[in-house]
Amino acid sequence: MSDVRQTGGAGGAGGPALRSRAWFGPADWNGFIHRSWMKNQGVPHRMFDGRPVIGICTTRSELTPCNAHLDTLAEHVRRGVYEAGGFPVEFPVMSLGETLLRPTSMLFRNLVSMDVEESIRANPIDGVVLLCGCDKTTPALLMGAASCDLPTLVVSGGPMLNGRFRGRTLGSGTGVFAMNDDVRAGRMSAGEFFEAEAAMSRSAGSCNTMGTASTMASLVEALGVGLPHNAAIPAVDARRRTLAQDAGVRIVEMVREDLRLSRVLTREAFLNAIRVNAAIGGSTNAVVHLLALAGRAEVTLTLDDVDAHGHDMPLLVDLMPSGRFLMEDFHYAGGVPAVVNALGDLLFRDAPTVSGRTLGEVCADAPVWDDRVIRPLAAPVRERAGIAVLRGNLAPDGAVIKPSAASPRLLRHRGRAVVFDTIEDFTHRVDDPALDIDETCVMVLRGAGPRGYPGMPEVGNLPLPRRLLARGVDDMVRISDARMSGTAYGTVVLHVAPESAAGGPLALVRDGDMIELDVEARRLHLDVPETGPAGLAARRAAWTPPPPAAVGGYQGMYVSHVLQADRGADLDFLVGRRGSAVTRDNH
Ligand code: FES
Ligand code: MG
Repeated sequence: MSDVRQTGGAGGAGGPALRSRAWFGPADWNGFIHRSWMKNQGVPHRMFDGRPVIGICTTRSELTPCNAHLDTLAEHVRRGVYEAGGFPVEFPVMSLGETLLRPTSMLFRNLVSMDVEESIRANPIDGVVLLCGCDKTTPALLMGAASCDLPTLVVSGGPMLNGRFRGRTLGSGTGVFAMNDDVRAGRMSAGEFFEAEAAMSRSAGSCNTMGTASTMASLVEALGVGLPHNAAIPAVDARRRTLAQDAGVRIVEMVREDLRLSRVLTREAFLNAIRVNAAIGGSTNAVVHLLALAGRAEVTLTLDDVDAHGHDMPLLVDLMPSGRFLMEDFHYAGGVPAVVNALGDLLFRDAPTVSGRTLGEVCADAPVWDDRVIRPLAAPVRERAGIAVLRGNLAPDGAVIKPSAASPRLLRHRGRAVVFDTIEDFTHRVDDPALDIDETCVMVLRGAGPRGYPGMPEVGNLPLPRRLLARGVDDMVRISDARMSGTAYGTVVLHVAPESAAGGPLALVRDGDMIELDVEARRLHLDVPETGPAGLAARRAAWTPPPPAAVGGYQGMYVSHVLQADRGADLDFLVGRRGSAVTRDNH
């Protein structure tokens, strides 16, 4: 049995001094306490000899069904850490599942990021593997880790297998929205609806569409913070466990190389993420998450970068919600490495990755095995498919739309506003026969921003009025300060900033006002004069802010500190990198 070394702890020849030595190195009574209680888990004395201590940060929870299998992956990360001579320690953080959390998981993303940041910093950890996979767990863990800035590597949980129902492919989320329309229009029975539930979610893993979870797992690769094929290997595929073990090996090497997150999360990495997001048809939610993460990483990134660097990108990947295939197909077709390779010089190929090689090197020669799923650059699913950033007197600080999920005929539209003050107001009135609405109208929802809801829920893809659905109307322009699920689709303008609860012009819209959307011109205009008795100035003067959506507790803190969507809806005091130093001992 080796002795605990009192000096060194360099994690290998020539490596950096390890912060875990401050806990486990000393032969004094503090060192005794730090080691002794760990030994109650059967940890041998030799584990405290100066080897890198690797945190495995997990969001495993039975209340986050898409992350419920992460214990298996943690075991394989652990194997890799041991294999490379490290000391793995698994720790949980609050988990955020999209499907159950109320009022919205987004409200808690920043809370989890605090949990992650403080858990890493406060513990004897030299490097960390982030195990995550639902929409918010990925950005939350990355944000917290970025503020701490240790060597960090993400392992995603992987997508569910393809859903199949009565001969049809059923994609997570996307299928629900379509079948909900069918039920509302009387084309599907409740019994069939229940049967479809089990057909859609039939294996461990995250949503199998290119929703937010798959988007963020793909951007993990594009940002360089995960290993190749992190996004698309199905959760239950044995190769996902191999990837987890490889990650365990690699994080130990990263500690020895002192390859910190800040060396990977460069501006080029973020621009690569924006571009890959366009090419995969990724979620609008990526915008708020990338902006928030860039804020933590102290990288300059603005909402306008999303349009400037993403909008002209071609859509190569034909996945639901806007396309035909699912993540399992995407993996068989070559996954993110094949997309990166196909994009060629449209990406910053020299961007570093956690692998120690550049993104270009990692993905060089990655083949496309099915060009129906991943199209060639010369024949994309759609040209210029990235998220567009709109501005105008209705969204002075910007709003976003995903043109690839919208109806081309509505990308330029002028229509009469039908305004809903809250999502409850919408639900209450949308099917009321007395509601004066037709397919040319623009549905406006407010009170659903970060501060107003609170937490900016995914309600922006408002269901269409039942009587219009029955007439075959399949899309209408919708505008809100909310987000929408990455699995949703439609001509939906989202993330309007400032939000209505913060006094944004969305608060001033009235029924009957004319609204002009022109995506090509990037314009979102409320056609109401500034002056005059019903002008915007008069309306603004008469406007009173709504009472705070939450008082006291975390939610009270959230509503008083949350930034607007164009800043990623982070809490103002969490922006930035605070490092991993802890100067005082606990005993
Ligand atoms: Fe968790 Fe979709 S609900 S990945
Ligand atoms: Mg979601």
